[in-house]
Amino acid sequence: MATVPEDDVGFPRVPGQKLRALTGVKPTGIPHVGNYLGAIRPAIELAKGNDSFLFIADLHALTVERDPKRLTEDTYSVAATWLACGLNPKETVFYKQTDVPEVTTFAWMLSCFTPLGLLMRGHSYKDQRDNKEATDWDINHGVLAYPVLMAADILLYDADVVPVGKDQKQHLEIAQEIARKVNLQYGPVLRIPRPQIDETVMTIPGLDGRKMSKSYGNAIDLFSTDKELKNRIKSIKTDSTPFGEPLPITGDVLLDLYRLLASPEAARALEAKYQSGRKDPSVAEASLPDPSSNYFGWGGAKEALYEVLLERLGPARAEYRRLMDDKAHLRTLLKDGAERARTVAERTLGRLSDACGFVR
Ligand code: TRP
Repeated sequence: MATVPEDDVGFPRVPGQKLRALTGVKPTGIPHVGNYLGAIRPAIELAKGNDSFLFIADLHALTVERDPKRLTEDTYSVAATWLACGLNPKETVFYKQTDVPEVTTFAWMLSCFTPLGLLMRGHSYKDQRDNKEATDWDINHGVLAYPVLMAADILLYDADVVPVGKDQKQHLEIAQEIARKVNLQYGPVLRIPRPQIDETVMTIPGLDGRKMSKSYGNAIDLFSTDKELKNRIKSIKTDSTPFGEPLPITGDVLLDLYRLLASPEAARALEAKYQSGRKDPSVAEASLPDPSSNYFGWGGAKEALYEVLLERLGPARAEYRRLMDDKAHLRTLLKDGAERARTVAERTLGRLSDACGFVR
């Protein structure tokens, strides 16, 4: 696939204008600690002080989600999750796709510039097509056209950078290719976006040590009750190191997750407990009536992880519940975001409409 040369930015930017970062999230189910550490927390950090857009891709979700209650609930749930985790809707333009109807008109226009061959090479479409049990009648057009709508999501807002996971690389290349085709036809009407793929992004371990993922059943839900959280952590399998013996400080899920959440000092302090098998390695045990009262084992390690999760995520957990109990407020916030998004959307749609020769 052709790539965009470094200096080809397409629609020119105003000198001094900040780079605009834009990304979308599909409303899919209950978020887990892996989503938080791997995607939500870094995206919120990136949004701070930058020109940033974040939206809920509910139209994209319809390619797979057919349960209306689920889709509604999941849409509110993603909104509440991001806000509870610290997204500032005053700074970031935060909206949902279906509140900006311009995107579908724009997507249609783009689809007229999208070679079918480009879409037929799309990973999701190919996966479905290569499934021997399925025929063309089992694949919906939305799956094939998914990358065009995604290109519209990005190009409609003149996004410069699109922070995404590795799995979205091909979608970004398709968006660039479509923008290039439009620009080739009409001149620089669309800004050429660049993916920002953090290759170093760490894999967050789940309960069994494999990558944390809903589909592996090894995830720690971000917003379960305190009791469920405690039980979930208790269920982590540990080895049979006797109580009071040193614990391994490498390859241990409890300590790895703890390190991702705690301050470096707290992480070092916990490592010292692991290495000594003692709650307080500096205590003179001979003076204790019961030396084993100072022993540290897996129970203590689990307690430490539970505590740091509450400490780091406690406020977000409370805020999430508060937001989910006030859907009217969430709805208003999203509408406000959409209003801001639409000002930009209308401008870009107008620009392409003029280029195409649509009577306005
Ligand atoms: N396809 C993305 C995903 O599955 C979601 C998405 C839709 C998106 N539109 C986007 C991401 C635009 C970035 C930009 O994660």
